[in-house]
Amino acid sequence: MGRTSIPELNEKYERGTPLTMLTAYDAPIARQVDSGGVDMILVGDSAGDNHLGYDDTLPVTLEEALSNTAAVDRAVEEAMVIGDMPFLSYGTSLEQSVENAGRFMKEAGADAVKLETAPYGETTIEIVSRLTELGVPVVGHIGLTPQRMKQIGGGYVQGRGDGSSATVEALVETAESLEAAGAFSIILEAVTEETGRRVTDAVDVPTIGIGAGRYVDGQVLVVTDVLGLSEESYRLSKQYADLNSVVHASVQSYVDEVRSGAFPAAEHVFDPVEEQE
Ligand code: KIV
Repeated sequence: MGRTSIPELNEKYERGTPLTMLTAYDAPIARQVDSGGVDMILVGDSAGDNHLGYDDTLPVTLEEALSNTAAVDRAVEEAMVIGDMPFLSYGTSLEQSVENAGRFMKEAGADAVKLETAPYGETTIEIVSRLTELGVPVVGHIGLTPQRMKQIGGGYVQGRGDGSSATVEALVETAESLEAAGAFSIILEAVTEETGRRVTDAVDVPTIGIGAGRYVDGQVLVVTDVLGLSEESYRLSKQYADLNSVVHASVQSYVDEVRSGAFPAAEHVFDPVEEQE
């Protein structure tokens, strides 16, 4: 059957079927996310704090992102796999941006790449245009863009007016520029519901929200939040399982059984020796 294509996503979008996206960073989780039926898997730079043990996304290297993407690629059969370009792996020059984006497709098996875009971010929009012309499908990402966290002073809601680093108007205009540059979809992170609605009305490509409210074309969440594998919970997310508790209890049972001699039992042993009386 092959992986979900852009025309297939567009068909769903035209029909008004909400699009689904989750992150994944390794093969076992990607396999489950894929078989669970999502349309797209984002190998996010949120791997920084959700997979690699960093405090945030900024330290994630291109090699780490490529390695995560390749692991996900090896596990996924049906969902579109999107590689997330880490901080400063794009933007330093057009040439380097194209080369690095190409590595996600040629070496790591991604079907598309995602780039964060600052309000009116001309440099990124030029890169999106070049990539699209060359056949690299691009997802834009606006609103709260965590790669700019140090610059804007934290991870707060955008499109709120004076208190935000991006106004609704700036976000609408940036989304329009991304669409014109060829982005086939736009992620909107942590914006007011009105911003989500206005951006969605302004563009003819699917908008995918994370903390962007109900009037967008699809949703994305971070898989460790969804599965209850994170240390924190966030208003914009929803926890559908409590894997922290499941993993903790399983490890405790294993430790107890090894210490008590209950594991390994005869059924786990090759050619078990007869018990001595
Ligand atoms: O890296 C990531 O997981 C993301 C999503 C939050 C959209 O960019």
